[in-house]
Amino acid sequence: MSESRERSDNPAPHADSRADHSHLGEGIDHIIAISSGKGGVGKTTVAVNLAVALAKSGANVGLMDADIYGPNVPGMLGVTTPPHKEGDTLIPPVSHGVKVMSMGFFVPEETPVVWRGPMVHGAIQQFFRDVVWGKLDYLLVDLPPGTGDVPLSLSQMVPLTGAITVTTPQEVALHDVRKGIMMFKKVNVPVLGIIENMSYYVCAHCGQRAEIFDYGGGERAAEKYGIPFLGRIPLDPAIRIGGDIGAPIVIAHPDSPQAKAFEAIAAKLMDQLSKKKEQAGSPSIADMIKKIKEPMTPKTE
Ligand SMILES: Nc1ncnc2c1ncn2[C@@H]1O[C@H](COP(=O)(O)OP(=O)(O)OP(=O)(O)O)[C@@H](O)[C@H]1O
Ligand SMILES: [Mg+2]
Repeated sequence: MSESRERSDNPAPHADSRADHSHLGEGIDHIIAISSGKGGVGKTTVAVNLAVALAKSGANVGLMDADIYGPNVPGMLGVTTPPHKEGDTLIPPVSHGVKVMSMGFFVPEETPVVWRGPMVHGAIQQFFRDVVWGKLDYLLVDLPPGTGDVPLSLSQMVPLTGAITVTTPQEVALHDVRKGIMMFKKVNVPVLGIIENMSYYVCAHCGQRAEIFDYGGGERAAEKYGIPFLGRIPLDPAIRIGGDIGAPIVIAHPDSPQAKAFEAIAAKLMDQLSKKKEQAGSPSIADMIKKIKEPMTPKTE
């Protein structure tokens, strides 16, 4: 490949291949990737609304936009303030209670990011190393679509609690769900659940329900692969408008059924993760049996 293809107009972060990653993500309880096999199924919409719903419930939440090539998080969350530089560190802006970091803060909207994998890896590394996230309960990471460099870099860089897969219900999207699940399996990242987006549409005029992309595919896929089904979000203009104007529906219309759908998913996720934590903290049955079988050793004074 020619030299010129390597060049780019964007400031390139340095990917330090010798870097010690062991401290990255320290102070963050749960790092959760929001993924999809297919593009345009609503990952960013879900990531933004889920992050805000988690923050509304009182959790400390961050949202990292790892879609380096197409950063949509600042626009959808309505953040206009760039991060504040303090020495070598970046203080992330906070929007609706969520700390945010995105390549979108550094690259003008119309400028494409033309980077190879190692440069993308470097950017994500900097998002962990240089950004002052502080103590977080949840850091959601909005991924680009598919099984490319970014999920791979992320899985190698930080201990991910797991990944959430967003899909639309139709068959063609579900084929790609399988690929995504297999990829996370390969890199030992648990899949925490499937969210079905654009599940159905309720006509604003006649109230009739239409299943534009079929129905129930996400739930069927969850069953098939033995993964929790976290819930479904309707296809609704108000959700799209929320994204376009940077006013997430969980803030703009908090009492709407659409907002409640996001909040129910956030609650289910928190519940699932707290149970997981409890299980990790308590000894396994095998440990307990082993302990019972151990001979009692008399205390020596
Ligand atoms: N439930 C929904 N109802 C209506 N519009 C939606 C819904 N979910 C997402 N959209 C809209 O669909 C478009 C694509 O959504 P989004 O950008 O969140 O997808 P994505 O999976 O992140 O895309 P990409 O793969 O490009 O990153 C956006 O315009 C968004 O507002
Ligand atoms: Mg996106």
